[in-house]
Amino acid sequence: MLLSLRIITPLFVLLAGVQAEFLTKNCKLISRSDSERNALNLLEPLTNQNFTAERPGEGYLYIFQVCGDAGGMKDAGLVQKEKKDGTLVRIGNYNQTRAIRGSDWVLLFYEGGDKYDSHCSKEPRKAMIMISCSTSAKNAFSVVLEDNQKEQDCYYLFELDSNAVCPVIPSKLSAGSIILIIVFCCLAVYLTGGFLYQRLVVGAKGVEQFPNYAFWSEIGNLSADGCNFVCRSHGNREEAPTYRGVATEPLGEEQEERDDHLLPM
Ligand SMILES: *[C@@H]1O[C@H](CO)[C@@H](O)[C@H](O)[C@H]1NC(C)=O
Ligand SMILES: *[C@@H]1O[C@H](CO)[C@@H](O)[C@H](O)[C@H]1NC(C)=O
Repeated sequence: MLLSLRIITPLFVLLAGVQAEFLTKNCKLISRSDSERNALNLLEPLTNQNFTAERPGEGYLYIFQVCGDAGGMKDAGLVQKEKKDGTLVRIGNYNQTRAIRGSDWVLLFYEGGDKYDSHCSKEPRKAMIMISCSTSAKNAFSVVLEDNQKEQDCYYLFELDSNAVCPVIPSKLSAGSIILIIVFCCLAVYLTGGFLYQRLVVGAKGVEQFPNYAFWSEIGNLSADGCNFVCRSHGNREEAPTYRGVATEPLGEEQEERDDHLLPM
């Protein structure tokens, strides 16, 4: 008990130390959930940078940060900045986050922004950021739309393409198939090498060119005998000589002897 505590305690301290470095920890989830926390953890490589985007002819700049102060505004993960005078509007806070994860995307919600003046029943603004897998090394952030012509549930929608949320592709080859491939390669090398050796060095012809031909045919005969012994019912034994007579070639006599030995009457 004491020993295990002694081992486990430093482990926890170590883990806590490592976890404290995750900047996504700064995001506060509206409802505590392991799956949402895991989704946030995926975004760690995207922290500590300002992503900016604008829509042509609008005069606003949108600034986004993952779990950090966007545009330097405290607790705001997404802000709208007027280009003329630099006025900041809080679109969403990272202390009110939701994160939903799919196979190759994360949907991030920042809620609790500045209230609408007249639209949307004067509810607080909120931002939805769709982060999708992209194999490009560069992250691309863009504004999609502001859906505010309704009574409630208005939102700003953004997209970020990044390789941070791409699925980790596991190696498709299992240990078993790798072993199988190695065995096949060895077999191929053995066969071609042996074939060339028999043909060029020994000067063998026909089937004799197969490496260790005598050995393998012996094995084949032995297993055939074994099969004969195991599978054949006793009633059929009278027919065996005819069958054998057809099948036997150079090794015939040897086989006769062995059969007598294996099948004592
Ligand atoms: C993001 O922008 C703000 C305001 O412009 C700035 O204070 C902050 O240092 C920037 N952060 C990063 C990581 O560039
Ligand atoms: C989030 O931050 C804002 C701005 O600092 C603050 O007004 C609000 O109370 C905070 N909300 C939570 C849930 O911490």
